[in-house]
Amino acid sequence: MTESMDTEQAEPTSGSAFLEERIRTLLQQMTLEEKIGQMAQVPSGGGHLPHHLREAIQRGQVGSVINEVDVATVNELQRTAVEESRLGIPLLVGRDVIHGFATVFPIPLGQAASWNPRLVELGARIAAHEAASRGVNWTFAPMIDISRDPRWGRIAESLGEDPFLTGSLGSAMVRGFQGEDLSAPGSIAACAKHFAGYGASESGKDYNTTNIPEGELRNVYLPPFQAAVDAGVASIMTSFSDLNGVPATANTLILQQILRDEWGFDGLVVSDWDSIHQLAVHGFTAGDRDSAFEAATAGVDMEMASQTYAHHLASLVHDGRMTIEHIDTMVSNILRTKFRLGLFDTPYTDPSMLPDIAAPEHLAAARHAAVESLVLLKNDVRVLPLSAESLASVAVIGPLADDPQEQLGTWIFDGDARHSVTALQAIRDMVGDRVTVHHARGVDTTRSHDRSGFDDAVRAAEQSDVVVMFLGEEAILSGEAHCRADIALPGNQEALIDALAATGKPLVLVLMTGRPLALERVVPKVHAVVCAWHPGSLGGPAIADVLFGVESPSGKLPVTFPRVTGQIPIYYSHKHGGKPGTPETFVHIDDIQARAPQLSVGNTSFHFDVHYSPLYPFGHGLSYTTFEYDSVRVDPPELAVSGTITVSAEVTNTGDRDGTEVAQLYVRDLVGNVTRPVKELKGFQRVFLAAYERRTVSFTLTPEDLSFFGRANTRIVEPGRFHVWIGGSSDTQTRAEFDLTD
Ligand code: NOJ
Repeated sequence: MTESMDTEQAEPTSGSAFLEERIRTLLQQMTLEEKIGQMAQVPSGGGHLPHHLREAIQRGQVGSVINEVDVATVNELQRTAVEESRLGIPLLVGRDVIHGFATVFPIPLGQAASWNPRLVELGARIAAHEAASRGVNWTFAPMIDISRDPRWGRIAESLGEDPFLTGSLGSAMVRGFQGEDLSAPGSIAACAKHFAGYGASESGKDYNTTNIPEGELRNVYLPPFQAAVDAGVASIMTSFSDLNGVPATANTLILQQILRDEWGFDGLVVSDWDSIHQLAVHGFTAGDRDSAFEAATAGVDMEMASQTYAHHLASLVHDGRMTIEHIDTMVSNILRTKFRLGLFDTPYTDPSMLPDIAAPEHLAAARHAAVESLVLLKNDVRVLPLSAESLASVAVIGPLADDPQEQLGTWIFDGDARHSVTALQAIRDMVGDRVTVHHARGVDTTRSHDRSGFDDAVRAAEQSDVVVMFLGEEAILSGEAHCRADIALPGNQEALIDALAATGKPLVLVLMTGRPLALERVVPKVHAVVCAWHPGSLGGPAIADVLFGVESPSGKLPVTFPRVTGQIPIYYSHKHGGKPGTPETFVHIDDIQARAPQLSVGNTSFHFDVHYSPLYPFGHGLSYTTFEYDSVRVDPPELAVSGTITVSAEVTNTGDRDGTEVAQLYVRDLVGNVTRPVKELKGFQRVFLAAYERRTVSFTLTPEDLSFFGRANTRIVEPGRFHVWIGGSSDTQTRAEFDLTD
């Protein structure tokens, strides 16, 4: 056998070596201008291909188009790139497909309340199929920013406050969008965003600065991104925000050292919209030329919308400030993503290969997702479930009871409200002629200050056996740049509740909202509260199923509900502090004696005017049955650094109804090299239990699960004592303990 034959046989025809070879071959043929062209993501014409865009594509000046969902136009865009540009490189076609496409699933925060990765994965899969049938091959999701500030409107788009839950569900979304084979029809590239720390925007005001110590960044904000990278996410988007004085879009620590060097990410990093140009607005650079330099050298491969790369990178190379090797690395990341998507082999979209948009099975999945996203927060006198057999009449009140658009929530560019079924419609369908439904809006919008609708609402309540109120926030009050300084119910809704409470009828509050609301004043006035978030296309039937007991609620809060806005930030995984608030030391402002001496009250950590606990803790959620936990135990009794430990508990359905419980595993590291949170979620399982069934739930923990970034910002495993809990909420008290030994 000759040497050359040997070489020929060894040459790969698939796999990563082959892919890298194809990238190298292509790079060798590209001019500097064509390379920089690949880095440009430009807005589409929206349903047509404008002349200037066609020419730019022909000249090889466009790598990606954003916001085109007309499939004929997308195919024409691709044809222009493939057949009319010199090297025929296909385009990435990006779109914000955040919680569904035409079929809208609950907002991500609502999906997170399901604590069900399989459901979240299916939602993303369906969204990918629908988007792909329009030619979209890249979505800007999942958004996996940890947020502990519900004033921030983008919390709606997040998966909540917890790194472990967000990491699990964010990875599920990545798997759903990308499928097992990114190049298969119906798979689209996911984009984990916003890297990093965006959820910590000061005062919950969007685009605001963030200050996050590196340890906290690594322990809290980055783990979901690492989970997404481990799940194979194709791309990452940088954040608009300033992170510790270095805007995320030019932050070498996160973009180079952590993402590339420590995690080995080899996909594509895209800026956010104009965020490279904004580096100068931040006062970080003197203008676009420096902005292009800072972002490119930090590791941003593609520029969304602004044109600083197009205008300045070539001259930065000619002037010797940037090397061609660096440019090649950036382009390789873009080409790698295009190859992985199979775009060079199949650039065109044939919608007939994919299921219809809003197919019945898509809508059924959206309904199921909405059912699992509902969280029963309160049901004191068991007013729920309602019985269509024993009720004669029900009042359905509120501006969100019958609004097909508002129930879809934020980020629904392609959502089609014609597929929506509202709660009023669904309740009418469910009860038929058996129960009279009296409907009144009460207030025109959630923000209205007008009381002219109150009388109708009160009349409807007086004529009914039970009152169900659909209140909260319209979709416009949450999402990007839609932040609030006070997260109580807006407008006159509290006054409406007062007016309805005066009727003495049982009151059920169904909250439709994009964020936790501060409801301390409201909750005592109502008998039951269901948090429905913005539940999506089939939110109405899902709500009716839960209200009337066809389904038992199983959702759990992915984020803490504060009592009042002033408690923010309030989250379960806080630090203990040296003087924590206690029941013995807490004093309410109304109970302080006149002329009390300074040291007679206070002295521990609380506000005078509100209890230090939240209204509803992370993980909280009731069912129509009840669950109890006992016998938390560990086996073996100690965890060796090279070993594993099993934590188990018995969970019993103590009611006479079947139900699903989310069993949650929490740990506390009692002494740390840096102070450790009072509880950290380390596992969860959805468990179906028949009435009165008792079952063992078990979780495995490894030392790696207990590791954290310590004082030197490196990952450490520290021997010592741990508390461990298994329960149905973060306020669980059922615990055991063990030692991690050398
Ligand atoms: C700005 C948003 O911050 C980001 O999340 C989104 O994906 C892009 N715009 C594209 O629309």
